[in-house]
Amino acid sequence: MESLRSTKWAGKSIFVFKETDSTNIQAKAGGEKGEPHGTLYVAESQSAGRGRRGRRWESPAGESIYMSLLLRPEFPPVKAPMLTLVMALAVARALREQTGVDVQIKWPNDLVVQGRKICGILTEMSIEMTWINYVVIGIGINVNQNEFPEELKDCASSLKMETGRRFRRSHLIAAVMEYFEMYYEQFLQEGSLAGLRKEYNELLVNKDRQVKILEPGNHYEAYALGINDTGELIVEKEDGSVQNIFAGEVSVRGIYGYT
Ligand code: BTN
Repeated sequence: MESLRSTKWAGKSIFVFKETDSTNIQAKAGGEKGEPHGTLYVAESQSAGRGRRGRRWESPAGESIYMSLLLRPEFPPVKAPMLTLVMALAVARALREQTGVDVQIKWPNDLVVQGRKICGILTEMSIEMTWINYVVIGIGINVNQNEFPEELKDCASSLKMETGRRFRRSHLIAAVMEYFEMYYEQFLQEGSLAGLRKEYNELLVNKDRQVKILEPGNHYEAYALGINDTGELIVEKEDGSVQNIFAGEVSVRGIYGYT
């Protein structure tokens, strides 16, 4: 077990695996066992890395960050989805500061550089009717890859591919934890994304762009205006009506390409 010196609770205790099934699985096991708020699980490689919508997350050794943060929030379950946006903002800020790369957010929680994905976030939680047992936020960051397999080439990138430089993964992890701790505390104080919204919208790649909204059984085009205080995407439809999109089952695409 290791520890970050620069934070109060985020990454204060860290479990590091050379190989594991999935850091989200390990963090959930930690949640069941009573490990404390802020415990971080980091792996060099994962044999069963998972993405959203049941997809696989390829997790070979050497070049990427695979990590999951265990949280024990004391607020109602309805607020938990906002934590993913808090993490997206923290990772974007940390990567921008550490690497100088123009990292942007694709709503709600992918990070992209020039239209290519550089980081994915998978949030899972254990809840009762009115309270949260724990939340696990899993983060995969493409750091030192020189290339991607053919099928990912057009939609994935790494920090190395964007800059020609290699980055120390431990420094990036520490920076993400510092930003997350700061933003989380602001989020707790305000009870919403009200104070973080402006910063999030400044980094939002979809903002002021035409997007395609893919709801189950209903696809339409709209103009994205930014997020509101609860993290919904505000869009203006072609008939001028304004709608708030909740992340749950909806997917947002650019008219051209991924973003
Ligand atoms: C996505 O964009 O689909 C989310 C990808 C999340 C991947 C990370 S890697 C660390 C953690 N462990 C997992 O199995 N998944 C997340």
